[in-house]
Amino acid sequence: MSNTSIDSLQHEERRFPPTASFSATAVATSALYDEAKADRLAFWARQSRDLLHWHKDFTQTLDWSNAPFARWFADGELNVAYNCLDRHVLAGNGDRIAIHWEGEPGDSRDISYAELTAEVKRAANLLTKLGIGKGDRVAIYLPMIPEAVVSMLAVARVGAVHSVIFGGFSAESLRSRIDDASAKLVITADGGWRKGRVSPLKPAVDGALAKEGDLSVEHVLVVKRCDNDVEWTEGRDLWWHEEIETVDAEHEAEAFEAEQPLFILYTSGTTGKPKGILHTTGGYLTQVAFTHKNVFDLHPETDVYWCTADVGWITGHSYVVYGPLANGATQVLYEGTPDTPHPGRWWEIIQKYGVTIFYTAPTAIRSFMKLGREIPDSFDLSSLRVLGSVGEPINPEAWVWYREVIGGGSTPIVDTWWQTETGAIMISALPGVTITKPGSAQVPVPGITIEVLDEAGTPVPAGGGGLLAVTEPWPSMLRGIWGDPERFKETYWDKFAAVLDKPVYFAGDGARLDEDGDIWLLGRVDDVMNVSGHRLSTAEIESALVSHPIVAESAVVGAADETTGQAVVAFVILRSEHVEHQTPDEASALLRIHVSEQIGAIARPREIFIVAELPKTRSGKIMRRLLQDVAEGRAIGDTTTLADTSVMQIISDKLSKG
Ligand code: WT7
Repeated sequence: MSNTSIDSLQHEERRFPPTASFSATAVATSALYDEAKADRLAFWARQSRDLLHWHKDFTQTLDWSNAPFARWFADGELNVAYNCLDRHVLAGNGDRIAIHWEGEPGDSRDISYAELTAEVKRAANLLTKLGIGKGDRVAIYLPMIPEAVVSMLAVARVGAVHSVIFGGFSAESLRSRIDDASAKLVITADGGWRKGRVSPLKPAVDGALAKEGDLSVEHVLVVKRCDNDVEWTEGRDLWWHEEIETVDAEHEAEAFEAEQPLFILYTSGTTGKPKGILHTTGGYLTQVAFTHKNVFDLHPETDVYWCTADVGWITGHSYVVYGPLANGATQVLYEGTPDTPHPGRWWEIIQKYGVTIFYTAPTAIRSFMKLGREIPDSFDLSSLRVLGSVGEPINPEAWVWYREVIGGGSTPIVDTWWQTETGAIMISALPGVTITKPGSAQVPVPGITIEVLDEAGTPVPAGGGGLLAVTEPWPSMLRGIWGDPERFKETYWDKFAAVLDKPVYFAGDGARLDEDGDIWLLGRVDDVMNVSGHRLSTAEIESALVSHPIVAESAVVGAADETTGQAVVAFVILRSEHVEHQTPDEASALLRIHVSEQIGAIARPREIFIVAELPKTRSGKIMRRLLQDVAEGRAIGDTTTLADTSVMQIISDKLSKG
């Protein structure tokens, strides 16, 4: 987003104060800010003890002596699955629905806390039977079916570490993630339902494991979801439904230390290799439970919560699995796409289950806006009382539409800023407390310290812009990058190390403060794109492109897109021997498929331009800014630092002709 548009955004005058009736029963109060300000660590210690069951209490809240490697509640012991399941049953809430599951074809299942607990116990016994124990890594590649949640919790229950891989990733991506974490077990399904069809999953797992050197994977556990045909490797592959019958129903949750790893989740960075973001248990669960309860005003006895994210992303980990279940919430889990079999499917689900709290992404809201309000207007959405947004900046028009059309003109909207690395929400309004402002994520949640800094590490004044930084450690912070402590330091902590005398976390986002001190997010400041709220790396897509034999060189940029926020646009130079044999259209069609195979359909470029040159500085750095001008159809900016200033003229002439 350019600075001019942000300037005009900040002249957004609309304000939405909480209503007196909402505030009267709100979970959050302004006292939380005062308590956290008075003693941040005491605040988190209290939250942790109030929100979680500790098998063994902790004596130290934070150990930051080996910064930036944090240890929270380190001598405490807990079991994450026990916190999400058993204790609710023991408290007499076993009959409460944990999950209203809705399959895309319309099949559905209501699962109570007692039933979910029973399923996870069996699955935990199955993992043990398959040799999975404390610290072992399990890759999970599943559609949005109850077994996805059951698998994650079962892994957590036995102290193992899950690495969930989004079902849209290709065999290649799956393989590199399985390898990086040396997973012993892969849990997958025959397929899942997507857009009215069976989308097979097992072939990608077979493909990922087909190549040599897969010593780490011992078994593949396969859930039967769609009954589509699958290839079978005897001895390695096992059916979930058969195996689960062979194990005991009882399982006692063992307590693990608070810094026991819980999961690895891969996310794109500025290099070609995705980073395995590592999260642990005690601090993570504390902050996801705290934010889920306070940011969404959760009243677990009466609310029906729905977060539309896939469990393959951090939002699914924190706000489908761990936050809601730790809080004993009732939630909806939906397998399919928003427009199958009709464009009102989401609104129909809200009506069917009486959803009260709804959490989704701006890209979805914008695509519904395009379809028109008649669709949501034909459903009863009056149960909704809190709406959330996550993944990218939400433009004020979409924010206001969301509130008016989906929220009936009265629901508070919480725009939540956070990242895979932060584990939980960091910046957000609190419903019932904050006067909301369309387009701004506004304020750090209680217990979180965030500043907007200039390059010298100095906080910018009200009205100024700079880099978003987290200035104190927080409970759900990443504990590192799997197997790469140096990259962890370099990526997040080196930025301000030279200018500040304490460790400060660099988020990679640009931000501005308005006159009230509210935070406005401006998008990434690095070579990371945000497509439909999903993070993609320019370098990763570039290396996928150059891995194709016809490609000599490539440059990828994120171009503004009305619906997806940004879209992937690639510029490619073909190897000279291929230039004559391939028309640009053929080459770009071929390469779009190639990127899908290498990374996944989410990374497939919207457009690929076949060019003869790329704009480079004299030191050989590609000037993406200029390519972005071309991709967004703007006049080309300053070209004076180019090694060859005629290059951009040649590229834009060629493109306007083609
Ligand atoms: C990046 C993190 C956190 C779950 C989804 C994405 C952008 C996220 C917002 C927001 C403006 C946002 C940032 C951030 N982002 N939420 N409310 N307003 N930007 O997780 O894949 O780790 O991506 O998403 O650029 O750095 P992720």
